[in-house]
Amino acid sequence: MANQKFRRIGILTSGGDAPGMNPCFRAITRAILSNGTEAMGIRRGYKGLIDNDMKLLTDRDVSNIINIGGTSLYSDRCLEFKTEEGMQKAVQTCRENKIDGIIAIGGDGTFRGARDLTDRGIPCIGIPATIDNDISSTDYTIGFDTALNTVVQMVDRLRDTCESHARCDVVEVMGNGSGYLALHSGIAVGATEIISKEIPFSEDALIEKMLESKRNHKRNFIIVVSENMGAGFTETLTKNVQERTGIETRYARLSHVQRGGSPTHKDRMTSSLMAFKAVELLYEGKSNLVIRDNGGKIESLDISFALDFDKYYKGKFTEEQIAKIPEKDLKLMEEMAKKRREQFMEVYRVNSVISN
Ligand code: F6P
Repeated sequence: MANQKFRRIGILTSGGDAPGMNPCFRAITRAILSNGTEAMGIRRGYKGLIDNDMKLLTDRDVSNIINIGGTSLYSDRCLEFKTEEGMQKAVQTCRENKIDGIIAIGGDGTFRGARDLTDRGIPCIGIPATIDNDISSTDYTIGFDTALNTVVQMVDRLRDTCESHARCDVVEVMGNGSGYLALHSGIAVGATEIISKEIPFSEDALIEKMLESKRNHKRNFIIVVSENMGAGFTETLTKNVQERTGIETRYARLSHVQRGGSPTHKDRMTSSLMAFKAVELLYEGKSNLVIRDNGGKIESLDISFALDFDKYYKGKFTEEQIAKIPEKDLKLMEEMAKKRREQFMEVYRVNSVISN
């Protein structure tokens, strides 16, 4: 790595934790130390930056965490950091602690913080980590694979008992920003139906499909619902399915069990590669970037573009805001959004053909 003069580089994790944050923290620390720079572990995300809660790291501080879920740096959702005063305090802490750059691991909120700090003179790079895989600028976020494997294990167990009792289980998985967890776990558990706000859903069609399968002697049914369908949806659907099909139906909300657990190979691998890339870019004098997986390649993208694209993709921009996006950027956003939507719908289409 090219060696620019950094005295210390800070590392933080912020927002919802995700399995793989620890291997990412470990890889960043080791890459920084091997380059002769000091590494500062900032606890509790941006809150720790405001409160000056940090520690200089040695190689040994990140030993034996590659296999541990959660984040050893701890995490927080910090409202104070959203204020100018909070951000100025954070900048001041960086100056006092000789922190010349920060690598921030987390989701969109983390990236907004990284952009705001960069704007105030502390170069930052963001690494995407959330079990939801809902950061639109990257094909993959650290933690997604581990969460998927947890869901698969849990639902396989539900299937065992559903088969014994000829029941249906409606399983709600996390994902307040997108239905990727529902989509990918649904296909892997052989769900009769995957329900998420990105996909049109007809309760009548589902009931019809289940009655048909019941006539064909199918005994167990799994329906996977994304949290993004809103509060109460899963409970109501459970009641309706039982009433309308005569199949005894239960529901299960897997909740935060999905956020824990030892990171899988994919999450350890991706986090190590993303970490290395972030450190490399920082040493090249680059910042205000997010690391992303683009079709399997680890690349980077401008943070502001990534944040705007996320809003664009999730329909959070008004017409007026869209009109202000430079033509070149808008064209790229349209292309990226089209590709992402098509990939999502293709997986759904496959499941709808092979499930019953
Ligand atoms: O990390 C993302 C996520 O898991 C969402 O899917 C979920 O709605 C949310 O976090 C819950 O987070 P918390 O309970 O920590 O606020």
